[in-house]
Amino acid sequence: TLSYIPYNGHYLPAVKGIRENIERGDEFVSRPDDIWICCYAKSGTHWLWEIVHMLLGNSTDYTSKPKETTQFDFHDAASFTNLPSPRVFNCALWWHQLPRDVIQKKSKILHCMRNPKDVAVSYYLHTKELHSVYQYSGSWEGWVQLFTEGKVVRGSWFDYEMEWSKEGGKDENVLTLMYEDLKKDLVSEIKVIAHFLGVSLPESRYLEMADRCSFGTMKQCKQMSEMENKIMYRKGQVGDWKNWFTVTQNEKFDAVYKAWLESGGPAMCFG
Ligand code: A3P
Repeated sequence: TLSYIPYNGHYLPAVKGIRENIERGDEFVSRPDDIWICCYAKSGTHWLWEIVHMLLGNSTDYTSKPKETTQFDFHDAASFTNLPSPRVFNCALWWHQLPRDVIQKKSKILHCMRNPKDVAVSYYLHTKELHSVYQYSGSWEGWVQLFTEGKVVRGSWFDYEMEWSKEGGKDENVLTLMYEDLKKDLVSEIKVIAHFLGVSLPESRYLEMADRCSFGTMKQCKQMSEMENKIMYRKGQVGDWKNWFTVTQNEKFDAVYKAWLESGGPAMCFG
């Protein structure tokens, strides 16, 4: 069993007021220069959060505010009114759960996808660590089952990414990134993000930022709580799933993934 808040057939984390916060999104007044980082759980939100702040501020310092301060569904929308521009929001919301004004005002949205097998592992450990929120005391085996069936908080990875691809994919204000690409060549991806945000900096600056945002440096140098360090900057690897999935679990997962691809899921390269 897993603790969650049901919402229109969806699963939200058991955070007080979360349903109301999403509903009040209708009243949210977006600004064209707002920037949104929207990713399924454990797909690179913290990483992008630092990169975006560095680019906007032409800085190699880590943000001093935790990303939760502008996690949209954790707060009443009205509380963001006094923030100075450009505001950087983050969330794990589905496309249809985003405040409509974000789309209408054409705010820029960064969306990062990650190999769902690595997402499943990272999310399992996250859920176990944050037991007070998720109340999950099941096994890895049970988790793979729940994840594959989409019965985890934030819902089905497959449906989530399908919706983002179909709806967000055709919107020029959405930049879709791959976690694995960031791992492979962070400097190039930082440049892609900079271009998307309309930021232009000297080459050396992008190199410095990539260095500061490498996993090892962030884990070691960014000031954060022990818990955050443990679950938000855990291992940062591509392919950790191989240490977790049994052959049978992998075969079952592959079958679901293949069916998803055949029904229009976006092709992904896992590096
Ligand atoms: P792991 O648990 O596999 O290590 P999110 O921020 O969306 O919750 O995603 C968290 C995942 O991104 C964690 O995955 C975390 O380690 C990884 N991550 C965070 N910073 C990273 C970085 N600089 N480079 C690579 N991975 C990073």
